[in-house]
Amino acid sequence: MEAILIGFMGSGKTTVGRLLADQLMTQHADLDDMIVDRAGQAITAIFEEHGEGYFRQLEQQTLRGALAQPGVLSTGGGTPTIPANAAILTASPVPVICLAADDATILDRVSHDTSRPLVNDLDTTALLALKHHRAPLYEAAADLVIQTDQLTPNEIVATIQDWL
Ligand code: S3P
Repeated sequence: MEAILIGFMGSGKTTVGRLLADQLMTQHADLDDMIVDRAGQAITAIFEEHGEGYFRQLEQQTLRGALAQPGVLSTGGGTPTIPANAAILTASPVPVICLAADDATILDRVSHDTSRPLVNDLDTTALLALKHHRAPLYEAAADLVIQTDQLTPNEIVATIQDWL
């Protein structure tokens, strides 16, 4: 991988990852999509039928494999918050970029989306508590943190390219 994007659900990892990969003329990989392919099930179905623990096992295995591939990787919102994954990211030489966004921005983006099990299961207070709990974990895993609220996806990509 040439760059790894981390951040909370709705922070723009997939949108920015695709654009960044285009700009770098490389491939984009989405860790959640890779997990879905591997499991042959949607994320919501994996959580419902096998539980979050099983999802996290798949996520860790998939992350290890993904790092060996070329391109830009968009992770899932929980990926760097699992200690084993954080260790994998820290040990990897690939730059890790965190997309940060305000609570209101995140709620606006995720609240009507039913494809995220944690959004479906948690009320607003619990979701924001999770976001705040995770913030230091993202910062610890990241080489660069970008506050994205006032930026367009193209501006975020330009910021990343300037930094890379
Ligand atoms: C999760 C975020 C999701 C997905 C899964 C768990 C999380 O990815 O990996 O639903 O723990 O925050 P996105 O951040 O792409 O929604």
